[in-house]
Amino acid sequence: MKENLLELAAWFERQKRVLPWRDRPTVYRVWISEIMLQQTQVATVVPYFERFIRRFGSVEELAAASEAEVLEHWAGLGYYSRARNLLRAARLIAEAGAFPSDRTGWLEIPGVGDYTAGAILSIALDRPEAILDGNVERVVSRVRRVDREDGDGVFKETLWRHSRRWVALGFGLGIRPSVLNQALMELGATVCSPREPRCGACPLASICRARKAGVQKLFPPRKRPVKWVSVREEVHCVLDNRGNVLLRQRGTEEWCAGLWDLPLGKPAWIAAGARPLDCFETRHVVTRHRITRITRVWRVSGAGCGCGRGGVRGGVRGAPRSAGRSAGDEFRWVPLAEPGVAAGAALKKVLRRVQESGLGSG
Ligand code: ADE
Repeated sequence: MKENLLELAAWFERQKRVLPWRDRPTVYRVWISEIMLQQTQVATVVPYFERFIRRFGSVEELAAASEAEVLEHWAGLGYYSRARNLLRAARLIAEAGAFPSDRTGWLEIPGVGDYTAGAILSIALDRPEAILDGNVERVVSRVRRVDREDGDGVFKETLWRHSRRWVALGFGLGIRPSVLNQALMELGATVCSPREPRCGACPLASICRARKAGVQKLFPPRKRPVKWVSVREEVHCVLDNRGNVLLRQRGTEEWCAGLWDLPLGKPAWIAAGARPLDCFETRHVVTRHRITRITRVWRVSGAGCGCGRGGVRGGVRGAPRSAGRSAGDEFRWVPLAEPGVAAGAALKKVLRRVQESGLGSG
């Protein structure tokens, strides 16, 4: 085992990918990257991380930002509660005047769980703390042939125990925890892949129990299948004749709170017999939800940018100027081509389609 850990560390130093958060791994940069990397692929995160760090270069700068701006820098990454938690956390940390110094302290920070606490402490500070994410889970469950027969809780506990042992063993051999933990992640991401593990290139192959039995592809054993929830939404894309679209900010109690989207349901100020300019269906997936969205496109002439009394076309009467102010009830006219507000992938897809159809140009 000891020799394999030394080989693993050497393999990582030779093979590691160049990633922006590996360059100057400060606590702040590692924390931001690890939150972004939760449930999101490395390739997707890279440009978001760079843009985010350019705008919010320190925890103090982040703490001083508005939620709208943070969400705007997160828009498209998904799982938006991560961005809201990040801002809350930055404000708590800035107020305390320092980052937490140990695992217990980090676990009190919004959005930080066992994996993230271990990753920050080991990668940024070289503390001998264990980690367990999807990649490491696969590596450890194969090497030690850990199954799920006694349930998910026991499975996870066993993997954590092995992960802790490996870091401690490596630490005793002079392997930096930042190297060991990132090596395990890298191995899972690039060699010990779910379907086609490249065991010939693996520094842990000689001690891998699953491989010895020829069952590596069966590990980690599957969880129960995801229960999909189907959601059907009806949204209204209201355009003016200056290239603007009317958006509504979702309220705190709603799905995707804080993000801007098309109004749900038919606005009361669209006349009963009015016919939309267009109507189309799009589909997307958010976590376990399969969402089918029906978009109806309307145009109000001269209504955007505050001319609510403008003419009526297609039976659509004066839309609100900027409308309500309470959370979840804020409306805003924004340029269709560049909304400049925090928007999810579903809205971006719809707006692109409206633009491509030529309807947006009036
Ligand atoms: N996935 C999660 N954290 C990561 C990291 N620090 N480097 C590469 N992939 C990761």
